[in-house]
Amino acid sequence: MKMPEQEYTKINKLILKLHSLLNTNHFLDVDILDKEKLSLLINLSKEIKLQFQNKSNAFTPLKGKILANLFFESSTRTRLSFEIAGKLLGAHVINFSEKGSSTEKGESLISTIQTIESLGADFIIIRHPDSGAPYAITKTIIKSSVINAGDGQHAHPTQALTDAFTLKEHLVNLEGKKIVIVGDINHSRVFRSNLWTLTSLGMNVVITGPQEFLPNFDLTKTLPSNIKQKQITIEHDLEKALENADVIMPLRIQKERHLSTLNQNLKTYVSKWQINETKLKLAKTNALIMHPGPVNEGIEINTNLINSPQSLIQKQVENGVFCRMAILLSCKKDFS
Ligand code: CP
Repeated sequence: MKMPEQEYTKINKLILKLHSLLNTNHFLDVDILDKEKLSLLINLSKEIKLQFQNKSNAFTPLKGKILANLFFESSTRTRLSFEIAGKLLGAHVINFSEKGSSTEKGESLISTIQTIESLGADFIIIRHPDSGAPYAITKTIIKSSVINAGDGQHAHPTQALTDAFTLKEHLVNLEGKKIVIVGDINHSRVFRSNLWTLTSLGMNVVITGPQEFLPNFDLTKTLPSNIKQKQITIEHDLEKALENADVIMPLRIQKERHLSTLNQNLKTYVSKWQINETKLKLAKTNALIMHPGPVNEGIEINTNLINSPQSLIQKQVENGVFCRMAILLSCKKDFS
């Protein structure tokens, strides 16, 4: 690690502490983060935001490194924020898209990854429709860091960090605060990763939506043992779920992950489950609205609410850059 310039001492101290605690080259899911590590990553994101939000910086620890964005599924915010994050930290960024690449001639994922690594990639940012793909590629990687930018229905750890950071920025202490997550829970990798981070930070998570979208197993079994049963509630009545909510997070109906025709009639969904002004009134006054994006406008959320004063949706996007910078720097690498 380069010796820090004076003003970056705080950032460098946080990075060194994260390196010693995480001790990993990769960032595959939030399940490596307990409350202490998660809080450190959030603090690092905050310090980076303070330094970088005016875009003038001389802190380029990734200068000369190559960051490869490999997106096998479409993306706007994750792909672009990794590109900006890499560039702000001084890295060269290359973007791979399946279309026009040799995967169209039948080249396998593993061979593609080996090729990208041989070309000199120090970071491989991967989004893939198959759950577990980022884990599989770490087995063939020699020195690159692999970062999961969303794998199938499994995990979306960088979005979860972004959401946790954005909430901490607005609510400060998340202990005992109530978040209601509404909609297509079963197909949501964002939900899985968010459940881990938000409960780890002490939030109470209420899950609601049509029966066919809800898990039918004990979610606490997928979480660390210190998470209390009472922190997670499945509520089948949206009105009841919204009572006293501090935060409401509707999720996108993931049409691409439903195996058969969507049973849920969208008109019925909108009339019963859409978050709109009337439903918002059931929550606490000034309850915050979040959405990891992209939004099916007019389906899970009324379009007017997306840009309302209570909405943090664009803040989530903005913070994604700083959180992804923190994640890149948390990977244990020789930056010298
Ligand atoms: N939230 C999220 O992953 O958005 P993108 O698909 O646009 O990256």
